[in-house]
Amino acid sequence: MARAERPDTLAAIEAAVWQELARAALDKHHAWRTPVLATGLSDGADARVVVLREVDPPTRTLVFYTDIRSGKVAQCLEQPTATVVMWSSVLGWQLRCRVQLSLDTQGVSVLSRWARLKLSPAAQDYLSPLPPGSVIDDPVRPVLPRDDRGHFGVLFARVDSLDWLELHRDGHRRARFDADGARWLQP
Ligand SMILES: Cc1cc2nc3c(=O)[nH]c(=O)nc-3n(C[C@H](O)[C@H](O)[C@H](O)COP(=O)(O)O)c2cc1C
Repeated sequence: MARAERPDTLAAIEAAVWQELARAALDKHHAWRTPVLATGLSDGADARVVVLREVDPPTRTLVFYTDIRSGKVAQCLEQPTATVVMWSSVLGWQLRCRVQLSLDTQGVSVLSRWARLKLSPAAQDYLSPLPPGSVIDDPVRPVLPRDDRGHFGVLFARVDSLDWLELHRDGHRRARFDADGARWLQP
């Protein structure tokens, strides 16, 4: 849903960005629900689409779910600084979040989320006997039991810096929000 008003101060824009992020985690139709997570490799970069599962504005944290055997997990353990990028044509906003990734594989943060997830078809994504990216003969997946939590892990992305770009017919605007404060940038 388009915003009723165009925020006009840096503080209002930052607040609106976190409001949209929180909405995106709850609304399957929000374009920011499926951002791209880009991670660093020793010989370049990698990127993939993930589902934005939760957003906690007070701690500036985005939450993703993943198979802990996936390439992105190995990359984040080696190089925890990553970028999450999203675009909404409804808002006309691109958001680039510089984040610090951390992974939980056990404890209440994982168990409580798995308790909810295991009731949904998405649980199958974390139960495969083979790691993501394994070469297989047949793409048809067996239906696997959901009693244990398989290879489910929770990826936390703490946002250190936001680069916001608005494309608008009256003029594009860009701003950065980070530990040094908020400022306008030339788009
Ligand atoms: C719409 C969409 C949503 C996806 N959501 C997730 C997700 O939430 N978590 C995840 O690990 N992979 C998700 N994937 C799959 C990843 O894009 C990727 O193919 C997979 O995780 C393996 O990536 P990696 O080898 O870089 O770790 C999604 C793919 C699409 C197309």
